[in-house]
Amino acid sequence: MKAIVLCAGKGTRLRPLTHTTAKHLIPVANRPVIFYTLETIKKAGITDIALIVSPYNREEFEQTIGDGSEFGLNVSYVVQQEPKGLAHAVWVAKDFLGKDDFLMYLGDNMIMEDLKPFVENFRENDVDASILLTPVEDPRRFGVAVVEGGKIVRVVEKPKVPPSNLAIIGVYMFRTIIFDGIENIKPSWRGELEITDAIEYLIENGYDVRAHIVYGWWKDTGKPEDLLEANRKILENLKGSSILGNIDEKSTVQGNVEIGEGSVVVNSIIRGPVVVGENSVIKNSYVGPYTSVGNRVTVDGCEIENSIIMEESVVVDVSERIDSSILGKKTKVVKSSEKPRGIKLIIGDLSSVEIP
Ligand code: DAU
Repeated sequence: MKAIVLCAGKGTRLRPLTHTTAKHLIPVANRPVIFYTLETIKKAGITDIALIVSPYNREEFEQTIGDGSEFGLNVSYVVQQEPKGLAHAVWVAKDFLGKDDFLMYLGDNMIMEDLKPFVENFRENDVDASILLTPVEDPRRFGVAVVEGGKIVRVVEKPKVPPSNLAIIGVYMFRTIIFDGIENIKPSWRGELEITDAIEYLIENGYDVRAHIVYGWWKDTGKPEDLLEANRKILENLKGSSILGNIDEKSTVQGNVEIGEGSVVVNSIIRGPVVVGENSVIKNSYVGPYTSVGNRVTVDGCEIENSIIMEESVVVDVSERIDSSILGKKTKVVKSSEKPRGIKLIIGDLSSVEIP
């Protein structure tokens, strides 16, 4: 059995972060989102994985994950020239998949669910596809399934009037019959070859498509607030503390906190859950719950909570508390005493700044 992880989309709702980084590589609790996905797939017993990447992000993925051996995986890369839809992404992986059954996982989804029962169930039963579903409040944003006695009898992509509250959450099991479905569909109203349409084709042609309903936490990390929620969720699950850096006697560390090698905390309060990467400096500051500080970051004279500060950023003497914020790599937020006084901004396209 193999797995494909789809990572070729554009990530428009996360700009400007996704101008320079694929959304799947944005860090949550200091680890790229995709790392959690790879671990989940490995735990489910699948080690042969292809990442479906775009021509633009391929190199970044290869640099970050390589051949997967560090994760105990065998990872290869398949380029989808244009994001023409999820079914199209499966189609371009045809050679990699060969005659194997496979797990398909949308790479920007984070799922706190042991996928082993889902995979094992599919392996052991003679069904043609199995789809992970969960009840949601607003199903209109998702693919939606109608289930009767464990079988899926209808699927529809982002319906205006949802026929049920069961959302497709981006994890699927398929046998190669899905390629028949893909060959027989046309692009949808949004111009994409939808995997939901290929699944609907299977259903209409009498194939056995099963529902696997789960109730745990999951998140499509498509928007900034989703990333912050995922960050909170991962930090909430920090088990104990690990302090490899140096904390001076004037500082206090409370709750579950990880501080990486070479980092120093001077005259500061760190109130967990918090992770701080390597070689960072936290000085005269308060770093509060649900904050992830990357490697080689400087935080001096600031208060920060519920935020993600990526590597090599500098945050100095900001008078307001920084809250619910995401700072990309090598960003700088500092107080200036230069006259004339005023807010001086040099921010990239599609950035967002909120000032009280
Ligand atoms: O989040 C769950 C939803 O994901 C499901 O409920 C929907 O049925 C399913 O169609 C999908 O909808 P989205 O609109 O959220 O899909 P999105 O375009 O965000 O793509 C999901 C992932 O697949 C993302 O990591 C990018 C990747 N992708 C997307 C396209 C369109 C590709 O690799 N190739 C593509 O052509």
